[in-house]
Amino acid sequence: MRPTSAIVLAFAASTLAQDQIPLVDKLKGWFSQATAAVSSAVPSAPAPVEASRAKVAESVQHPLTLENWKDTLTVDPTVSAPATQDWLVFVTGANATCYGFCGNATKAWNTSLPFLAAKSNAPKFAVVDCDAEPILCNSWSVGPPSLYYFQIPKPLADQSAPAATVRYQTLNRTSTTVDTFKALVLDGGFDSIEPYEGLFHPFNGQLQEYQLAVPFAYVMWAFSKMPSWLPMILISFVSRSFM
Ligand SMILES: *[C@@H]1O[C@H](CO)[C@@H](O)[C@H](O)[C@H]1NC(C)=O
Ligand SMILES: *[C@@H]1O[C@H](CO)[C@@H](O)[C@H](O)[C@H]1NC(C)=O
Ligand SMILES: *[C@@H]1O[C@H](CO)[C@@H](O)[C@H](O)[C@H]1NC(C)=O
Ligand SMILES: *[C@@H]1O[C@H](CO)[C@@H](O)[C@H](O)[C@H]1NC(C)=O
Repeated sequence: MRPTSAIVLAFAASTLAQDQIPLVDKLKGWFSQATAAVSSAVPSAPAPVEASRAKVAESVQHPLTLENWKDTLTVDPTVSAPATQDWLVFVTGANATCYGFCGNATKAWNTSLPFLAAKSNAPKFAVVDCDAEPILCNSWSVGPPSLYYFQIPKPLADQSAPAATVRYQTLNRTSTTVDTFKALVLDGGFDSIEPYEGLFHPFNGQLQEYQLAVPFAYVMWAFSKMPSWLPMILISFVSRSFM
């Protein structure tokens, strides 16, 4: 048995054992406990707590890269029951893309993961580190910290795939806690967010359709790497050479 399923089963079993309280209420209870634990633990959580939190997160979520994301965000072909697979993708970063301000949100996400995974019909989880994957983040035009919610339909018998629904929520760098994730995922917060249909839709936005998302991402990335005076100089050279 994979560690992921073991963790989820352990959670599920501990709820089943405890009489008739509905699972979702139970989860909410855990969340408030986790909130309390996090807010008291944040200033200086002992190292083993940090380590085990990171371990749980590691075993539950799939790290996405520019190369693997399309193959990862799919419907497990061996599962016939759900016609749609939900994926939650946490977008994070460190010094380069989040200016070092994503730590609290990432910690809250890591802490929330086991609880979200114990939900019935739990989504699958993935994480993108925009520091390591700037091109992927630029091609989706997404910045950390944020949470993407994909509903990916199973391909039909003729292999054509109905369109995936995507919703995303930008997260506040300072005020994101486990409650934020609880509200979005367990309390139906995502249901009130309009699906995103624009240019940067990771599956069927126009940029993906015309294979322009990745080239565009490289251009944006190059601009972000440029010192701010360089475009000015370039523009003045170009305009001068036209004179
Ligand atoms: C969150 O979990 C990941 C493993 O997926 C780990 O690499 C990271 O250090 C953890 N971050 C925090 C702030 O706990
Ligand atoms: C991020 O910046 C902080 C402070 O500037 C520094 O202590 C830390 O080592 C940096 N982390 C990385 C991964 O570069
Ligand atoms: C992270 O949380 C701590 C404790 O709540 C707070 O002091 C700190 O300012 C927060 N960091 C950021 C970047 O919001
Ligand atoms: C993030 O939360 C802080 C504290 O709650 C608030 O002051 C700030 O305006 C929020 N930022 C954004 C972009 O919503």
